[in-house]
Amino acid sequence: MDQIHIYEVGPRDGWQNVEELISTEEKKKIIDALADADISHIQICSFVSPKAIPQMRDAKEVAEYCVSRYPDIDLLALAPNLRGVKDAKEAGIRHLSYVVSLSESHNKANINRTREESLQELESIIQTYPELDICVDIATSFGCPFEGRPKEGELTEFAEQVHGLGVKEICLCDTIGVADPLQVRTEIRNVTKACPELELMVHIHDTRGMGLACTLAAAEEGVSKVQSTLGGLGGCPFAPGASGNTATEDLVYMFQRMGYDTGADFGKLLKLSKYQKSVIQGNYSGHHVTIQMDQECGERGGDQTCTVRWI
Ligand code: COA
Ligand code: ZN
Repeated sequence: MDQIHIYEVGPRDGWQNVEELISTEEKKKIIDALADADISHIQICSFVSPKAIPQMRDAKEVAEYCVSRYPDIDLLALAPNLRGVKDAKEAGIRHLSYVVSLSESHNKANINRTREESLQELESIIQTYPELDICVDIATSFGCPFEGRPKEGELTEFAEQVHGLGVKEICLCDTIGVADPLQVRTEIRNVTKACPELELMVHIHDTRGMGLACTLAAAEEGVSKVQSTLGGLGGCPFAPGASGNTATEDLVYMFQRMGYDTGADFGKLLKLSKYQKSVIQGNYSGHHVTIQMDQECGERGGDQTCTVRWI
């Protein structure tokens, strides 16, 4: 059976876009429940300026809690600069998501740096902390709110540049959810051809309801690491029009029914998604939530049966 590795990024990408501050205790509770639902890769926070993202003010506390409690879970944190990586490392994080955008203008809006400056910082991070696993999240891989669709070959060229710095893993991020399955297939084939050693991951927002289709297209091209958020919550605060992510429970449902092994407990995820919705008012990818939140999960194990009530 093919394995799909689900990377739950809700505690970072989902919560960063929630205006109301979520208490640290509530965050821990939801992360505990994700662990209980057998999610084995969780991006738990970001080490960014609290002025830019006030929701991540308690990153250190959340990270230290998770590191001590979940030694067997692959815990990731996002960082935009050396300072963030240093703080994450001191909190015990070993797997970093370093974010840089394919488009110059989104990188400027998000990180206040040119792409070149971000890549120079990445070089110093790799030199300073060679022991850390750095995944480079390439934001706006498939389209930018300011510059539109990338030119042909642009993503591959950028991926090669990043790989050339010694990076072994990149995540192709559809930050504003504009990709289509054909584009995803084509870009993955091109990147894989140019950099066969590079480990790929995808992160697809669901603006046009194409999150599942695009993620499946990536999986069928051989990408087994996929990012998503519980309830489809999320969006980049610095990308106008950004909407929610692909929902974790939807991905798990789809892949499991198709015979992939995700290792995750669908029933527990559904319950947790409903719980999260009751405590957090955020940017959910609407149509999914309407369905998910009214799904009563019937029999579990074997084939999933669900009754869906529309509201
Ligand atoms: N963690 C915490 N604080 C940080 C920080 C980090 N990783 N990096 C910088 N800061 C602080 C500085 O200490 C400084 O604080 P001060 O104003 O109290 O002196 C302030 O942030 C500005 O620092 P500076 O280096 O001038 O950065 P900037 O203003 O150019 O901002 C970023 C750059 C990257 C730090 C900021 O844009 C940011 O955190 N963005 C977050 C982007 C994000 O999370 N997007 C969504 C996910 S993709
Ligand atoms: Zn995102």
